[in-house]
Amino acid sequence: MGWVVGLWVVMSISFGWWWYGKVFKSHLLGRPVIVSTDPELNKVILQNQKGAFLPYYPKSVLEVLGESSMFLMNGNLHKRVHTAISSFMRSPSLKAQITSLFENNAKLFMATWKDKPLVYVQDEAKEMAFQVLVKVLLSIGPGEDYNLVRGEFEVLMKGLMSIPIIFPGSKLYRALKAKEKLMKLINRILEERRPELDKPEGKGAVRDAADVLLRDPEIRKEAQHLPSDFVSHNIVEMMIPGETVTAALTLSVKFLGDSPVALNRLVEENMELKREKAQSGDEYTWMDYVSLPFTQKVINETLRMANIIISVWRRALQDVEIKGYFIPKDWCVVAAFLAPNMDEKTYDNPYHFDPWRWEGKDASVNTLFTPFGGGQRLCPGHELARLQIAIFLHHLVTTYRWVAMEDEIVYFPTVQMKRKLPITVAPISPSS
Ligand code: HEM
Repeated sequence: MGWVVGLWVVMSISFGWWWYGKVFKSHLLGRPVIVSTDPELNKVILQNQKGAFLPYYPKSVLEVLGESSMFLMNGNLHKRVHTAISSFMRSPSLKAQITSLFENNAKLFMATWKDKPLVYVQDEAKEMAFQVLVKVLLSIGPGEDYNLVRGEFEVLMKGLMSIPIIFPGSKLYRALKAKEKLMKLINRILEERRPELDKPEGKGAVRDAADVLLRDPEIRKEAQHLPSDFVSHNIVEMMIPGETVTAALTLSVKFLGDSPVALNRLVEENMELKREKAQSGDEYTWMDYVSLPFTQKVINETLRMANIIISVWRRALQDVEIKGYFIPKDWCVVAAFLAPNMDEKTYDNPYHFDPWRWEGKDASVNTLFTPFGGGQRLCPGHELARLQIAIFLHHLVTTYRWVAMEDEIVYFPTVQMKRKLPITVAPISPSS
């Protein structure tokens, strides 16, 4: 959850990188840290093959995360949970389900835009993405439960990166209360599912991430040693990284609005797909969206420039030496992704949005480009996130042209647009 460590870290990493070089000592969040902007060193840290590192988060985040949180686990249990959630999120059946859900969402939301004098892209993207997230995690659709989750989650997020003081009224206090309410609701949903669990014939297909955690045989075996609300804690906590899709959707609109040549190429490619579908009468499949080559380049370039996760933090459980660097026990090491993404030795003119730079490059095997982390904690939602961005872009650029108002990217408490990216839209005529 490097996304919650904001502007101070961005500035420190950028300054340190420029002044000291690729790996340097610093002092962040009140503790000594080693900052690595060296992708090779980052790779070894993320692989964590000897289990020498544990994730580290600011105090307010630690207060919100449960003791048996996926984000803090290590070893076999983490491996099991990570594998189970990743395989579910990468499954073709989930992708097919999410494709029609997100497609409908995109069309419904976008249909209302033509009547709005200003569309706040960030608000719209947040709502669209959150509806999918809640469906993937808990199968909750629109209605009372959804509204409760939406409202309480908002409160939780506000407290996540607040001053770590707990007293009635403080942001962190309210975040903890919001988490309790969310857990209560989720516990109720899980209780309703429990009778099915004991009847193997009655299980049916796995619906969502909650089912995955409830049913996985190895996690169930371990569950005897885990708190009874292990699943509900983890479901709430998975909403936190899931929210990052909002930033990717919003910033794609920002970067494309500033880059008319790239936008025109994207429109051409997506219009072609739209025409094909109209002629054949076939439904879109998830493969249609992820097979558009230029759209994939736009997604890579958006993720590179957006730097949604600027860094991930690890605490050394023992003295560690990697590639000649010594990391003392208990020190934190910050694997920074921001600096490698903006390194002009790797990317010509790195501050320029240029999707063509990805020509002939496979971003999924590029160890210099790690928007979704890597190794043991590689984001389980990465394929789902890319699919959602592709669907969003397709429906946006084949429906509207837009003009963005003045706005700027801010990095605290998460990467977002200061004014929520207001745009005016004009429908594209059907003949174009
Ligand atoms: C553009 C969108 C996204 C970006 C940039 C992103 C990025 C990342 C990164 C960098 C990590 C690694 C953190 C670390 O090493 O400590 C991560 C982990 C994670 N992400 Fe994502 N993510 C995105 C979307 C999602 C979505 C949609 C979900 C689904 C709910 C998700 C769920 C998770 C989870 C559960 C982890 C923790 C994995 C673990 O610790 O084993 N993410 N994400």
